[in-house]
Amino acid sequence: MITDTYNRVHNYLRISLTDNCNLRCFYCMPEQDYIFTPAAQLMQKAEIVALAKLFVANGVDKIRLTGGEPLVRKDAGEIILALSELPVTLTITTNGTRLDHFLDIFLRSSIRALNISLDTLQPEKFLLMTRYDQFGKVMDNIRLMTAHGFHVKVNVVVMRGVNENEINDFIEWTRDTPVHIRFIEFMPFTGNHWESNKVFTWKEMLDVIGSKYTITRLADEQHDTAKKYTVPGHAGTFAVISTMSAPFCSGCNRMRLTADGRMKNCLFSRTETDLLTPMRKGENILPLILQNVLEKAEALGGQFTPDFLQLHAEEINNRSMITIGG
Ligand code: 5AD
Ligand code: SF4
Repeated sequence: MITDTYNRVHNYLRISLTDNCNLRCFYCMPEQDYIFTPAAQLMQKAEIVALAKLFVANGVDKIRLTGGEPLVRKDAGEIILALSELPVTLTITTNGTRLDHFLDIFLRSSIRALNISLDTLQPEKFLLMTRYDQFGKVMDNIRLMTAHGFHVKVNVVVMRGVNENEINDFIEWTRDTPVHIRFIEFMPFTGNHWESNKVFTWKEMLDVIGSKYTITRLADEQHDTAKKYTVPGHAGTFAVISTMSAPFCSGCNRMRLTADGRMKNCLFSRTETDLLTPMRKGENILPLILQNVLEKAEALGGQFTPDFLQLHAEEINNRSMITIGG
């Protein structure tokens, strides 16, 4: 078991397959001329599988594939099928644009649930936010996956002045659509235009929803980062994720691998541990993994407190989201 100094058992690994993406969400990409990591510097398929096996041998039983956009990687399908052989719950976070190409792989894989990022239900706003006209494609793919029995969660990053006025449109969508919406508080990363006044808190979200709908809280599962709710009679459900205003670090069980093979013990960790280089030299990397987790801060990478109104994004030391992997 991989345990930190706060007795948190770490059984959940998030693996970024690439920092490349076919969209350009303004809150995720650091700058216009960002250069994606060359393929040779990325973990190769066999290296990803070897690392995953090492983590699994040490207690990991849940793996999520992330990006960038994981499904732009050419061998994403082979990686998904290889990881499907491991005794883990395998999931993926995707922007949804390429799911139709992967339906066959998904059906053959162990994946049963997926998170799809979609921050607006308005095609024009989607184009403004992502710079690509892919709204229709993402909606079609959400329908495709639900029709094939996959459990679809929709990640909505709520930003004041951008899409907070659409919260109830998403709730209305769940009346007949069996998806689980996750409203996420906007988090600061290097170069992502974060400002404290753009954070729309989970309490504000619930006020907006509660003003129009009757809502009922659902039971939490262990390690849940989300507070889940249902609107009686709706086919879908929703949750609010309070990373900024009410962090849930005390139950954290997550570790991350960036696409270039560095381990991060927290989304906001200042430091990272290169696992890929020593692994390529044939060294035993388990001590590095254990040490990385022992250095994990109690909360929020030790970089800020829930008093986010006092936070200045430029003081945070971190990668941009696209290079970490959501
Ligand atoms: N704040 C909150 N969520 C974010 N994501 C990306 N950047 C941010 C941010 N700054 C989300 C994406 C995706 C998931 C991987 O992380 O929308 O759903
Ligand atoms: Fe791509 Fe997701 Fe980042 Fe948007 S948020 S640019 S879809 S990785």
